[in-house]
Amino acid sequence: MTDLVKISTANGVMEIVWNRPDKKNALSNAMYRAATAALAQAVEDKSVRVVLLASEGDSFTSGNDLADFASAAMGGEAPAAGAFIEAIAQFPKPLVAAVAGLAVGVGTTMLLHCDLVFVASDAKLTTPFVNLALVPEAASSLLMPAHIGHRRAFAMFALGEGLTGEQAAQLGVANVALPAAEVLAAARAAAAKLALRPPGAVMATKKLMRNGEAILTQLRTEGAIFGERLKSAEAMEAFMAFQQKRAPDFSKL
Ligand code: COA
Repeated sequence: MTDLVKISTANGVMEIVWNRPDKKNALSNAMYRAATAALAQAVEDKSVRVVLLASEGDSFTSGNDLADFASAAMGGEAPAAGAFIEAIAQFPKPLVAAVAGLAVGVGTTMLLHCDLVFVASDAKLTTPFVNLALVPEAASSLLMPAHIGHRRAFAMFALGEGLTGEQAAQLGVANVALPAAEVLAAARAAAAKLALRPPGAVMATKKLMRNGEAILTQLRTEGAIFGERLKSAEAMEAFMAFQQKRAPDFSKL
C-alpha cells in the first residue's frame, strides 16, 4: 500500500489520483503497482462504470521516477510501468483524465488510452524519450502519429518538443482545454454522466473504436526495445545527469 496514489470510488466512478506533488507526481514502482491493482479491481467490480485519472499539486505527472529507472538499469527492481501500461491499454471501461500542469512521458502517453481527456489550457504535454536515450512506450509510437501526424510526433519524441493543453485539444489529443481551476470539475461531470449510460453499450463502443490487438503488439515491441535502451550507457548518462542536475553529455558515447 502507498499513500502516493489516492483511490476512491463513489457513484460508479473510481478516481485514481497521483499524490506525490513534491516530486511533481513522478511515478514510482509502488505507485504503478497501486494503480494497476486498482484498475484490476475496477474491471471486476460491476459497480465501477468509469475510472477517472487525476492528480494533486501543480503537475499531472513528471513521468516515470528516474531514480527507479536508474536502479533498474543497474540491475535493481524492474520498472512496474509495463504492467500499468498494459492495464490501461486493455481497460474495458471508459477512462477519463483531468490533466493540469506537466504531463511528461507516460503522463502524456497514458492519455492516448483515455476516452475523454480534459486538459488545462496551459498544461504542457511532453514525451522526451530520446532526451533520456529511451524510446516511446505505451504504443505511443503508433498512437501519437495517428493523432497528430508523423512529423509533430517525431519532434515530440526525438526533440522533446511539447504540446500546450490548447494545442492538445486542437489536435485531438484532448477533448477540451479549460482554465486549470475548471479541469477536474469538468472531468468529474463527464465521468458522472458516463456512469449513468448503459455499461454494456459503452464498453462495446470503446472496444469497437480501438484496435486492441495492434496496440498490444506495438506496446510489447516497444517494451522490449525500451528494456534494452534502459540498460544502455546512454541512458545511464541521462539518468545520472538528471540526478546531478546537469545537462547530459552523449558526445563520447
Ligand atoms: N523522477 C524522479 N524525480 C523527479 C522527476 C522524475 N521523473 N521529476 C521531478 N522529480 C523531482 C526532482 O528531482 C525534484 O526533487 P528535489 O526537490 O528532491 O530536488 C522535484 O521532483 C521537483 O522537480 P524540479 O526538477 O525541481 O521541478 P521543475 O519545475 O524545475 O522541473 C520537470 C520539473 C518535470 C520539468 C523536471 O523535474 C524534469 O525534467 N523531470 C524529469 C522528467 C522526465 O524525464 N521524466 C521521464 C520521462 S520518460
